[in-house]
Amino acid sequence: MTILQQLNDYQAHVNHQLEQALTDIQAITPERLYQALCHATLAGGKRLRPALVYLVGQMLGSPLSHLDIPAVAVELIHCYSLVHDDLPAMDDDPLRRGRPTCHIAFDEATAILAGDALQSLAFELLATPAAHYTPSQQLSMTGLLAKASGATGMVGGQMLDLQAEQVQITLPELHHIHRLKTGELLTASIQLGALAANCQDRVLFDRLTQIGENIGIAFQIQDDLLDVTQSTEILGKTQGADQAANKTTYLSFMSIEQAQQTMAQLINEAKALLEQLPYATNDVQCFIDYLIHRHY
Ligand code: IPE
Ligand code: IPE
Ligand code: MG
Ligand code: MG
Ligand code: MG
Repeated sequence: MTILQQLNDYQAHVNHQLEQALTDIQAITPERLYQALCHATLAGGKRLRPALVYLVGQMLGSPLSHLDIPAVAVELIHCYSLVHDDLPAMDDDPLRRGRPTCHIAFDEATAILAGDALQSLAFELLATPAAHYTPSQQLSMTGLLAKASGATGMVGGQMLDLQAEQVQITLPELHHIHRLKTGELLTASIQLGALAANCQDRVLFDRLTQIGENIGIAFQIQDDLLDVTQSTEILGKTQGADQAANKTTYLSFMSIEQAQQTMAQLINEAKALLEQLPYATNDVQCFIDYLIHRHY
């Protein structure tokens, strides 16, 4: 199976899990909010964070079904982050995943509440007792995702990203922003796969974390590049949005070619670390290659 086929399978699988998670709360959720949650979660999305949970968890010997809860939880957090990222007070984007953003399709207040509800649902799912996890595993996964998404993780990165529209920052500062706003959730996806597979090996966990950090920064560099090089139609989000919003990106400091080189270096380091692991790493290697060759 090629990596694209495997990603398609994971995508279909997690889409079904996401639908189920929302269907489970439909009867007791206000209808308008429910529609906004579905809009923000169910249509489109590459589902790369769930794919990382599945790939790493399976590499470490976990059955697929034991990885569903963290895969859904991290995607819910990601979807919430996108809804809020697109709000007029933040990036003010009208298009996401080829469709009107949540605040355009509904309204700002509904979009804010939908983001809030997606976040809560992620933690509710992780904290609900499940037969195949120990309470300690659930606590670790909940704490890890909370930290990665909060003030010292994704949200902190979003704050710094917005501030960097107004003040000049340095390349190391931008690197830090990328690590927080995007790297933390991608790293958490890998770590969640390891925790759900009941990984007890600290050295292995730290290696996986380093791989996640490299992938995460490379992923945001690619996102910045695609914003310049790709069309709105293929991206499913507005091309040139970064420049229009006066964002600081890697391209504020270097050429497209240099940014591609920086990305390739991060990816090569990640692959070298992965190769040293005593597991069948091929699927994860292919995924890492896919990341820098993606077109949207
Ligand atoms: C976009 O993430 C936002 C970033 C963190 C760069 P993705 O490129 O994974 O977006 P979807 O989920 O596929 O829409
Ligand atoms: C977003 O970064 C990172 C998030 C935490 C959502 P961007 O603002 O570059 O993401 P896009 O380009 O709008 O998807
Ligand atoms: Mg943004
Ligand atoms: Mg944005
Ligand atoms: Mg972007």
